[in-house]
Amino acid sequence: MLIKNATTHYGTVTRFLHWTIFILFIWQYLSAAIMTHVGRDNTLLGLTQGDYYDWHKSIGMILLILAIIRLVWRKTTPLPDWAPTLSLSEQAISHRNELWLYWCMFLLPISGYVFVMAGGFGVKLFGLYPLPNPIGKTPWLATATLAIHIIASYAAVVFIAWHAGLGLKHHLYDRDGFLNRMLPFRKP
Ligand code: HEM
Ligand code: HEM
Repeated sequence: MLIKNATTHYGTVTRFLHWTIFILFIWQYLSAAIMTHVGRDNTLLGLTQGDYYDWHKSIGMILLILAIIRLVWRKTTPLPDWAPTLSLSEQAISHRNELWLYWCMFLLPISGYVFVMAGGFGVKLFGLYPLPNPIGKTPWLATATLAIHIIASYAAVVFIAWHAGLGLKHHLYDRDGFLNRMLPFRKP
């Protein structure tokens, strides 16, 4: 398996980044659901609400770094050709959708970060290291970025659903091996 992308499939670096980011996104939605519902004095699996907030924010910051690496990698490595089984309209919509997915990968962590800084909540990386607050308490900015964070989190679900739905339809219904272009340890 090549490190760089080939003409028929993605290489190991793209695959690693793709699925690591996917798994961490699942954690983000899971931790968000827990931290906003568990209640201040309760614990879940031995972790307090504050622990879930810390881990949501910390993994979110890691996701921002991974998104930067991923974008740089995409810009400097040639993309594979489109799968021959994708229609022209599917190619056009997928291209637009991938752009929106990149917007979400950046907008979500940046809006989350600005919200907690402008709201005066801060970030304690993995519950250990408090980050400096370069923004300072700014209530209007906190309100605006919280709204962006929530809207982007719903929008991302729509884009991911379309993206995964198209891949699964091709792979399972059309049986064209489409997912093998991205799944780990698979050859197209
Ligand atoms: C957080 C969720 C996801 C995000 C943000 C995401 C994002 C992307 C992006 C941006 C690409 C283009 C290649 C690149 O720039 O790396 C891509 C390709 C791909 N993704 Fe995802 N993806 C997600 C989840 C999924 C899921 C759940 C599946 C499968 C069920 C999937 C299957 C694929 C496949 C097969 C390709 C290659 C498409 C092609 O050959 O044209 N992705 N993904
Ligand atoms: C890709 C990264 C991220 C994803 C996918 C994500 C996702 C989410 C989701 C789904 C929610 C629940 C929204 C709702 O109430 O319906 C949420 C809430 C929240 N997120 Fe994130 N987030 C990310 C990054 C971050 C970062 C980096 C921070 C801070 C440094 C952060 C801070 C917060 C906070 C404080 C809340 C609770 C807001 C409230 O009080 O309602 N998030 N996030």
